[in-house]
Amino acid sequence: MTLPTATSIPTSLIHLPDNYFETLRLDTLFPQAQPLELELGSGDGSFLAAYAAAQPGVNFIGVERLLGRLRKLDKKARRAGLSNVCCLRIEASYFLEFMVPKDAARAVHIYFPDPWPKRRHRKNRLVNERFPEIAAQALEAQGTVYLRTDDADYFEQMLECFGRSPLFQSEETPEELAKFVTDFERTFHARGIQTRHAVYRKTP
Ligand SMILES: C[S@@+](CC[C@H](N)C(=O)[O-])C[C@H]1O[C@@H](n2cnc3c(N)ncnc32)[C@H](O)[C@@H]1O
Repeated sequence: MTLPTATSIPTSLIHLPDNYFETLRLDTLFPQAQPLELELGSGDGSFLAAYAAAQPGVNFIGVERLLGRLRKLDKKARRAGLSNVCCLRIEASYFLEFMVPKDAARAVHIYFPDPWPKRRHRKNRLVNERFPEIAAQALEAQGTVYLRTDDADYFEQMLECFGRSPLFQSEETPEELAKFVTDFERTFHARGIQTRHAVYRKTP
């Protein structure tokens, strides 16, 4: 990725780290040092592109393992002239645990993570027993995790994992944020499928 400047948008917002064993150097990713928010599993990037456009004073990293989807986010963000977006193709929990500097993020957004509905596959879920600890490490004091899913069982698991953690307390989803609907959420709503939201703030 070309290093962005305040006046130019690089030809690609997809960041290729030199070293996947070190934490990211955030000062090389964005032209301005600003609060940082992450979206894990950003898909086609409609949410992130719209949300980042509405919040120019925040830097955003979108993480997605499918390159085709990441390219769509890249395209949307560049078309909108956003210099506060960067994206990475990487596995989300590895990224959060090993590549995000400690206490660096103001928020983590996880919307409609793969549900892994079969019992024997549930160990693959991104939000699991260990997740609150990993998220707390990446979040600044009072940083927030925003969750959405259509899967009732996964929602229960999210509530249980965060409910058991002394590191977080539950909050309501801000209306301002709920207005930003994701690609999958739009599809679920069109099919009459209920979606569930949860928010957890890191305890002081
Ligand atoms: C169901 S889609 C939701 C996409 C988007 N958040 C939305 O709501 O429209 C889940 C996305 O997360 C990505 N994903 C799932 N597990 C992942 C992981 N462990 N690391 C990175 N991306 C992941 C998938 O490739 C997919 O694009």
